[in-house]
Amino acid sequence: MHKVRKAVFPVGGLGTRFLPATKTVPKEMLTVVDKPVIQYVVDEARAAGIEHLIFVTGRSKAVIEDYFDAQVELYTTLAARGKKEELEHLKDIQPHPGTTSFTRQQQPLGLGHAVWCARELVGEEPFALLLPDMLMQAKKGCLSEMVELYGKTGGNIVSVQECRPEEARQYGLIGKGCSIAHGFRITTMVEKPQKGKIPSNLYINGRYILQAGIFKILEQQECDSDNEIQLTDAMLKLSAIEPFYGFHFRGKTFDCGSKTGFIKANVAFALARDDLRDQVILTLNDLLKDAIRKRASYMDTEG
Ligand code: UTP
Repeated sequence: MHKVRKAVFPVGGLGTRFLPATKTVPKEMLTVVDKPVIQYVVDEARAAGIEHLIFVTGRSKAVIEDYFDAQVELYTTLAARGKKEELEHLKDIQPHPGTTSFTRQQQPLGLGHAVWCARELVGEEPFALLLPDMLMQAKKGCLSEMVELYGKTGGNIVSVQECRPEEARQYGLIGKGCSIAHGFRITTMVEKPQKGKIPSNLYINGRYILQAGIFKILEQQECDSDNEIQLTDAMLKLSAIEPFYGFHFRGKTFDCGSKTGFIKANVAFALARDDLRDQVILTLNDLLKDAIRKRASYMDTEG
């Protein structure tokens, strides 16, 4: 069985839900506390043993490539000012030379198309796929757990989690079959299902281990009515010819592609930090008390 050495990060989306910020700043570079969203996801991939990072970018995303490059002038200035800790940290998170690749998705034709754009860089081996706007918080990284499961099952794996009934139609959902190791067989997959066609409350939360066979299927797939090539449809076809498993992630997932998910992630990651927790609790407490008081007096005047 091939080791999962490469990870694909599709960062070609338009991020329209974050306009006007995303006119010039890619949504993957928006910060959760003090780190760009993309850094959290890259950290998760490296903790899972990923050796090569493949970014599928788009127009106005060049800053992502700069971010992962060495900033020699900045390093020199930090050294001259004695900012040793900051300098060490920047060097620690900088990928080793030759371990990042960038390719452009020339048109934003959907996630499936972005993944297909990575085919030459991935080659014939299995690869991890991480959606950078889905941030995870857990003791052990979601991808690390999936790589462990992969060691037992091989094949293809998607991570899933419960969603609330009102959220079910926003995501890709799966049908759950029998248990295997710490995962289970996938019986079906459907992207943004119609009412009455929801297979379960388990949605695909942005982490995948896929075999290279997905590229041949994506190559032949037509665009849907939104002019996008859907990854979920291609995975469903792949599951008919190759083993496909689900991994039930038990940590927290924040959808940073949505405004409330992004705000929630900022609060949750700040509350997890020893240097910020107490101050953040006090601040949130003040803000909430104020908001609750204002809402109550509004209800009184309305009622
Ligand atoms: P989204 O569905 O969140 O789309 O993409 P988006 O364009 O980024 O954001 P909105 O909906 O306009 O606000 C999910 C993931 O797939 C990538 C995105 O970058 C994100 O990581 N993606 C999406 C691409 O790389 N290319 C695409 O054509 C579409």
